[in-house]
Amino acid sequence: MLKEVDFYYFSPTGGTKKVGQCLANALAKSAILHDFADKKHSAAPTAELSIIALPVFGGRIPAFAAQKLKLIDGKNKKAVAIVVYGNRAYEDALLELNNLAKESFNVIACGAFVAQHSMYPKLGEGRPDEADIEELNAFAALILRKLACGQNGEIKVPGNYPYKADFIAPATPVSSDSCCLCGKCAQACPTDAIAICAGKLTTDLSKCMLCMACVHACPNHARALPEPMQKQIQLMLDKYRSARRKNEIYI
Ligand SMILES: Cc1cc2nc3c(=O)[nH]c(=O)nc-3n(C[C@H](O)[C@H](O)[C@H](O)COP(=O)(O)O)c2cc1C
Repeated sequence: MLKEVDFYYFSPTGGTKKVGQCLANALAKSAILHDFADKKHSAAPTAELSIIALPVFGGRIPAFAAQKLKLIDGKNKKAVAIVVYGNRAYEDALLELNNLAKESFNVIACGAFVAQHSMYPKLGEGRPDEADIEELNAFAALILRKLACGQNGEIKVPGNYPYKADFIAPATPVSSDSCCLCGKCAQACPTDAIAICAGKLTTDLSKCMLCMACVHACPNHARALPEPMQKQIQLMLDKYRSARRKNEIYI
């Protein structure tokens, strides 16, 4: 087991962090956390190994997180790059993350793991679960073995280039009458899209990436996707409920 790992992540509703933290726990005694939602600039890695974990938005990695990752000087240190998706599909996200991470890290392993869908929690409900954690532990054992052998070599992952079109939010979450203007949603928003001014809450669609951090942070459950959008999502995603999507590793 390693002494520590650097853990870079973007996790608006906690699923990506949970998966990455399980992997970190199996790899090292402690993790240095680097949250891409923090407004401060993220530091370069100091540990032997980094974990980079991003969620999948529309088959891609969120552009916001990609920009943050570009600012990190990985010093060509070793890294494990993983995407976390909501039991539909990860499409081009892992290829995009691997390509981007390779620009400044030496990527020695990649993976795609499932967590509960942040827009439609009935998809992947309860994941990562015990079986996922076992698979994360097994993945960690392979990574540690690879580190010990000093093996190297390019990691190939599925996905297409050019990538799918950028994910663009068609609408923002909205607040209901039970909103008490506490401002927790505005604090949680990574892009400062939410403002409270003269007793009114507004959300800037041009800044919103629909990451659901505001919905997750609302203590009164007063924030949600607009109802027509919820219905559309249900129609689109219900068919993915029956199959348990697999975690995939590339090492
Ligand atoms: C805007 C948006 C788009 C998403 N697109 C996909 C997708 O294309 N495929 C998928 O399986 N899950 C998708 N999801 C689900 C997330 O990838 C999944 O819930 C992930 O765990 C969210 O990370 P978080 O819990 O760290 O916020 C999407 C979620 C959001 C908010």
